[in-house]
Amino acid sequence: MMDWLLVPVAYLAGSVSSAIIVCKMMGLVDPRENGSGNPGATNVMRIGGKKAAAITLVGDALKGLLPVLVAKALAVDSLVLSAVVFAAFIGHLYPVFFQFKGGKGVATSLGVTLGVTWLLGVAVAGTWFIVYKLGRISSLSALVAATLAPIYTWLIVGDAYLTATFTLIALILLWRHKSNIQRLLAGQES
Ligand code: G3P
Repeated sequence: MMDWLLVPVAYLAGSVSSAIIVCKMMGLVDPRENGSGNPGATNVMRIGGKKAAAITLVGDALKGLLPVLVAKALAVDSLVLSAVVFAAFIGHLYPVFFQFKGGKGVATSLGVTLGVTWLLGVAVAGTWFIVYKLGRISSLSALVAATLAPIYTWLIVGDAYLTATFTLIALILLWRHKSNIQRLLAGQES
């Protein structure tokens, strides 16, 4: 029963927006009001360059990775682990510390996959990387990686709760990228 306490903890961790904090600490403009308006690593890249983006990416991935690693260290069952995964992701999208206006969840979902099992994380990150090398479009890479994540989860982990969770995450991530998808279809995505 105590295991379930990890779920709100994961949500609070997910609510820490690296993009907003990094931009503030580095004296950059607010990512919510500039570029695409998304508080995520891609938009921090537009606003502040590679270093700021890399710190944002690592921060957003870690806040997904760490709660999952703690949950695994405590040997929670896969239902609780799935809830921890989902809570960290949702925290990033709807952060309690930032008026519930968060990002799209790409880096955080990468972090949780790495936590579930490193091979799953490598498969997702590798997919992102390959698609990016081919098209050099961050959102497209994220959409392909997120769509394949449930399949990878089923093949690598073979757990129904986790597969369902990554399916739900993929659907929400697609929905959060609806303006990106419209631009991709119109050939206008940067
Ligand atoms: O990581 C989010 C990315 O997929 C899209 O970000 O700023 O281009 O909307 P952005």
